[in-house]
Formats: sequence, C-alpha cells, structure tokens
Amino acid sequence: MRFSTSALLTLPLLAAAAESPFEQYKAKFQNFLGSFGVAVPSSTEKQEPVAAAKAKVVGAKKIETLTLSSWKDTLYAPVKPDATQPEEWFVLVTGGNKTCFGHCGKVETAFNESVTKFATQSKSPHVGILNCDNEPILCTSWSASTGALWVFEMLPAPAPIDVYWKRLNLTTTTSDDILKVAGKDGKKSLYLIDSYFHPFDGVLAKNGLALPIGYLLWGFNAIPSWAMMLIVSFFSRSMMNRQVNGANRPGNPAAAAAAGAARGAPAGDARS
Ligand SMILES: *[C@@H]1O[C@H](CO)[C@@H](O)[C@H](O)[C@H]1NC(C)=O
Ligand SMILES: *[C@@H]1O[C@H](CO)[C@@H](O)[C@H](O)[C@H]1NC(C)=O
Ligand SMILES: *[C@@H]1O[C@H](CO)[C@@H](O)[C@H](O)[C@H]1NC(C)=O
Repeated sequence: MRFSTSALLTLPLLAAAAESPFEQYKAKFQNFLGSFGVAVPSSTEKQEPVAAAKAKVVGAKKIETLTLSSWKDTLYAPVKPDATQPEEWFVLVTGGNKTCFGHCGKVETAFNESVTKFATQSKSPHVGILNCDNEPILCTSWSASTGALWVFEMLPAPAPIDVYWKRLNLTTTTSDDILKVAGKDGKKSLYLIDSYFHPFDGVLAKNGLALPIGYLLWGFNAIPSWAMMLIVSFFSRSMMNRQVNGANRPGNPAAAAAAGAARGAPAGDARS
C-alpha cells in the first residue's frame, strides 16, 4: 500500500474536527468508491510521459491533461495576476475500462467535438481532461466520479475559486449539451461545489489533507476484499477480547457476580 503514514495520523484529527458533517459525505464516499470497484490496480500511479501529458491540439484549441503533479499549475496558467474576470475551464472527468467501465467513450467524443466548436468562437472556456484511470489519486482527492463535467472559474490566488460540476448522461450527451453549458444561463444546470473535497477551498485542501485522504481512500479501495475482511475480523476480534477482559476485571461487580454464578453452577446442573 502506498499511502503515507501521515494520512493515518491526520485521520483522527479530521474525524474529531468534523464528526457529524462528515456523515453527510459518507454516502458520497461510498458511491464514489463503488465507482472504482475493485478494479483499481496496484500500479495506477504511473505518470503520463511529460510530453504526452502536455497539450494536444484539437482544432485551434488545446486540450490540457490534468495530472496529480501539475493540475494546479495548468489551471492557473492562463490567469493574469491582476485579473478580475475569472478564466473559465471546462474539464471532462473521464475514465477507461477501470474507472468508467468503458462507458465514457461517448462523452469523450462529445467533449472533443465541443472543443472543435469552441475553437471557432471568440470567447470560450479553456479545456482539459482528467482521466481517472491514469489519475485515481487526484480523482479520489476531489471525490470526482467519471462521466462528469467540472467547470472552474479561476481567479488569481488567493481568491476563492468557484468550482461547478454536472453529471453527463453517458448515453445521450452530445457536443451541443456541452456548448449549452458555456452559453448564457448554462451555469444553471451546474452544481456549485461546496464540500470538504473542493479542490481549492475545501477543508481538506486548505489543510493539506486532500492528497493524504486521496491516497488513503484509494489505498483502502486497492486492498482486495478478502484482505479487508481479514483485517476487519482481526480488529473486531481483538476488540471483543478486550471487552471481555474488561468485563472480567475484579472492579466490575456485576460481571464478577455473573462470572461467579457461572462458575458456581455445577456442570450438568440443568434441573433434570
Ligand atoms: C477495454 O475493454 C474492452 C472490452 O472488454 C476491450 O476491447 C478494450 O481493449 C479495453 N481497452 C483497454 C484500453 O484496455
Ligand atoms: C478526445 O481528445 C483527447 C485529447 O486529444 C484524446 O486523448 C481522446 O482520445 C479523445 N477521445 C475521443 C473519444 O476521441
Ligand atoms: C440518460 O438519458 C436517457 C434518455 O433520456 C435516460 O433514459 C437515462 O435514464 C439517462 N441516464 C442517466 C444516468 O440519467
């Protein structure tokens, strides 16, 4: 397993700080983990070759590839230090056989087509692709699932960044649907992200936890389920043992009495 021990150390902190609000994200977590299935392989952290990770040209517009190490620089790159109008990014969160079960082809095609159309417009968003097959840690740290469009409104740091997302219908999405989001009132179909997992302003990102948590969750997910069962049963057994031992301590009169009664009853005394 590859996550650092600092992840383990920070987890209780997080839990203490956020006992109940955390609950509401639990379901989301589980959903998300489900989308990864057990298919996340152990060698997923391979970085794309730098040359390939850099921009590819579609029409006159580059599709940037977001990676764990460079996503922030990529998104901030077109932002001028004194800008007051946000630079808009459309990022397609997609995946291959591992994280999208091979069903993201249609939205990818639609997205690529929309980029070609954007290239003919005077004002259009910057575009990027995040492939969760290649970047599972980044996807986990954002709690991003595949088949979604993320929209970033980038302002110069340290201004807060508005991030929106929208699930794309994997079977029906066309390039026009994506163009529509960029059009007037398009934002109305988007959800503003306001969670712990906000890539810039979330509690996790602000406290440097997004990455450790990303590794941690991904690590849990990468453990085969039989190993997980082994671990769980080990822990629950050792906890049971501790409880039983605690109950039998002399300081516990009820338990002592019960134990005494049990001991006092002669074997086979079943009122026959
Ligand atoms: C994805 O799965 C399909 C069908 O199982 C297979 O034909 C294809 O080669 C796979 N693609 C990759 C990149 O492994
Ligand atoms: C979409 O464009 C990206 C970047 O150019 C490319 O990697 C991907 O294969 C394209 N997908 C489809 C379905 O055309
Ligand atoms: C995608 O759209 C089709 C047709 O409108 C619909 O039947 C299907 O339920 C949608 N899928 C999702 C996941 O919303």
